[in-house]
Amino acid sequence: MSELKNDCLMRSLLKKPASRTPVWMMRQAGRHLPEYRKLRRKAGDFMSLCRDPKLACEIAMQPLRRYELDAAILFSDILTIPDAMGLGLHFVEGEGPKFRKPLRTERDIKSLSVINSEDDLAYVLEAVSLIRKELDGSVPLIGFAGSPWTLAAYMIEGKSSRDFVLAKTWLYQHPEILHQLLQKLTLSLIDYLNAQIVSGAQVIQIFDTWGGILSDAAYEQFSLAYTREIITNLISRYEDREVPVVLFTKSGGNWLEEIAASGCNAIGLDWTVSLREARRRVGARVALQGNMDPTVLRSNPECIESEVRRILDSYGSGSGHVFNLGHGITPDIDPLHVSVFIEAVHRYSGA
Ligand code: CP3
Repeated sequence: MSELKNDCLMRSLLKKPASRTPVWMMRQAGRHLPEYRKLRRKAGDFMSLCRDPKLACEIAMQPLRRYELDAAILFSDILTIPDAMGLGLHFVEGEGPKFRKPLRTERDIKSLSVINSEDDLAYVLEAVSLIRKELDGSVPLIGFAGSPWTLAAYMIEGKSSRDFVLAKTWLYQHPEILHQLLQKLTLSLIDYLNAQIVSGAQVIQIFDTWGGILSDAAYEQFSLAYTREIITNLISRYEDREVPVVLFTKSGGNWLEEIAASGCNAIGLDWTVSLREARRRVGARVALQGNMDPTVLRSNPECIESEVRRILDSYGSGSGHVFNLGHGITPDIDPLHVSVFIEAVHRYSGA
């Protein structure tokens, strides 16, 4: 395998000195790009894009042609796993993801099987190896998955929700059944993420988008315990290099010490935490990724630049910071503002 031409993301995730602060954006491939919207119109729907490795590869490359990003991320979705488990994922325009067969009874959960990625998600693995080939060592490729709790929340609710009240009711009323579901998801996710690593993913990010809606006690038992089990069972070195793991927990600022002890190399932070404070709490053990509010990108170039500077200053000097947004970029953002953002990170963090 070729050496990486740009290794500043890998170095920063491993807390080694880097020439400047690396930058990439959650949801960098997608609806804010007109070239993405054009391909999606042609394909008809989002899942057809995901299921076609050549199209998925093209879409993963689109943001790299526009912006000087320090990483590519696999184009897919966290909900491909529940889909492979038979829940029937589809996307309704303007409403987000839906499952035809959400989990409603104990029997539904007992009848779920752990997936075998090589058979059930071959299209994702093919996309990973195509993107890796296309990148040709320019920047690293990030593979990803949702956390067991975040996937379970969608599987029980059947769709997006603000509070996932059905899933949380199960947690209190039938904790042992929820644990069975989380265990099956954990085994599926270990298989899936290791298959992504073997297919070419050089970094892994786990999205615990809904960890932050749990109580303190429930977060440890129903989310972090399973994510920790996954991290422990991931291939940590492949083809002579470490495979760093980033754990992003939306609204997880209360639990930084616990997250840092999970075995991850870096913590993904949303914009509600201070980078300075996060670094003081856990910066000796892990790298930090984040954490600009994506709404800043709606403002103007001056505001974007001053926010970038504020965040870089807040982390301070030394290695271990990966610049990112605190959550995914939204479809309303002007690509010109993204260029201003990326260039500002380069300019103000350069050696
Ligand atoms: O560029 C990238 O980040 C790579 C691809 C990627 C997508 N989804 C593509 C996508 C990644 C990493 C994800 C992760 C994802 N998917 C998460 C975790 C991150 C987060 O944002 O919290 C979650 C919760 C999902 C589930 C999901 N997928 C929802 C709720 C939706 C609909 C609303 C939305 O946010 O867009 C999707 C659809 C989706 N996933 C789109 C894309 C490009 C939009 C599809 C379209 O309408 O064209």
